[in-house]
Amino acid sequence: MVIKSIRFKFAVFIIFLLATIALSFSVLTVGTVKDYIVHDVINRAQAISGSAAASAAYSMISDDMLGMDSVVARVKASHPDIDFVAIADNSMKALVHSDIKKQGMTMSPVSGKLLRLDRYGYVIEGKAGNIEVITPVAFAKKGLGYVVLGMNRSLLYNASQSAKKSVLKGLAAALFLGMLGVFMLSASITKPIEELSAGVMDLKEGKKRTLKVYAKDELGRLTESFNEMSALIVEQKDRLAEYAGELEEAYISTLKVLAAAIDARDPYTLGHSARVAQYSMKMGEALGLPKKELEDLEIACLFHDVGKIKTPDHVLLKPGKLEADEFREMARHTEDGMAIISKAASLAKYIPAVRHHHEWYNGKGYPDGLAGDKIPLHAAIISIADSFDAMTSNRPYRNSRSEADALKEILRCSGDQFNPRLVNVFVKTFKNEHDGFMLSELI
Ligand SMILES: [Fe+2]
Repeated sequence: MVIKSIRFKFAVFIIFLLATIALSFSVLTVGTVKDYIVHDVINRAQAISGSAAASAAYSMISDDMLGMDSVVARVKASHPDIDFVAIADNSMKALVHSDIKKQGMTMSPVSGKLLRLDRYGYVIEGKAGNIEVITPVAFAKKGLGYVVLGMNRSLLYNASQSAKKSVLKGLAAALFLGMLGVFMLSASITKPIEELSAGVMDLKEGKKRTLKVYAKDELGRLTESFNEMSALIVEQKDRLAEYAGELEEAYISTLKVLAAAIDARDPYTLGHSARVAQYSMKMGEALGLPKKELEDLEIACLFHDVGKIKTPDHVLLKPGKLEADEFREMARHTEDGMAIISKAASLAKYIPAVRHHHEWYNGKGYPDGLAGDKIPLHAAIISIADSFDAMTSNRPYRNSRSEADALKEILRCSGDQFNPRLVNVFVKTFKNEHDGFMLSELI
């Protein structure tokens, strides 16, 4: 959008500049051509009028009205742009006039702008654009009268229109060429900018792309520098991602060791987390979870009880039923586990499983009393695997139950403690793994 705007602004500015120059040029040209034409018309009119005055002088001396009439008729007939011709005496009384009705009338010069005044007479431009030339008629330095000649503006108008047309054609051609030039110039300037802009967007999205260098100018050097810079950024980003991955792996390993150490605190729970992971993975596979999610589920299982690092020995290792305050202390391991996991931002995805693996389907679990589908899937899976392993492991105060008994208990608690859909999956998975195990024993 920004680039379009730059191109638009650039084009508008250049076109405005071109139009202003072309308009000024055309106004000046039309004015000059008009001046030239007016000058030419005046010269021609004065030449005609002077010639008529010379011819009229002889006729006026001899009062030859026929001669004067002949001069007027000849001049009028030979020049179609002449409106009228008159021969007047010194008091401007029309002795002969091409318009017979005005013959004998006193003529008054047209009112308007005086264009020329010299020994050949004077020239006036009327308000309507017509030109009147008044030439004295003299013989032997004696003034006999005047030849008055009126020219219409058709010649001027036609010449001016023709000049305007030519100038407008030139103006249109100049504007067209100018716009073509603007388009090519703006494309050559904005193309590298567009390329740079697209490159910045790609870099922002983490895509690596070498930008095309359009020219060896400042923009070309800028594009080359951008290519070098983006290559460096992508390389460092990859290296950082690698370091982050290694760090995460190291932290996960530490937590696994920690979880194994917690399991080892109690000889009866040795290997508990690894077994929970085993059961959970089978359920995850049966549910069709993607590979990446299965990996996350496995890690979550391995340190689901990491919070027990803070549980005192007299609670954790107590051989027998826990008192209410001891239970509260034990239950805190879910929140303590979450606090430990939260230390690394990359492990945030394991928090739901660690925090909620003791929630009950009916909402009576801890720490948040979540119910039904509000319980995160990984937490609900771990809950079943965790209970199953606890039941099938020896405890100081009781012997382990058989797998069939434990499965019966899981089924009994389905819908209360456990998600029924997941219990179903667990039982079926378990049967598949232990071919020959009779499901009928359970149901
Ligand atoms: Fe736990």
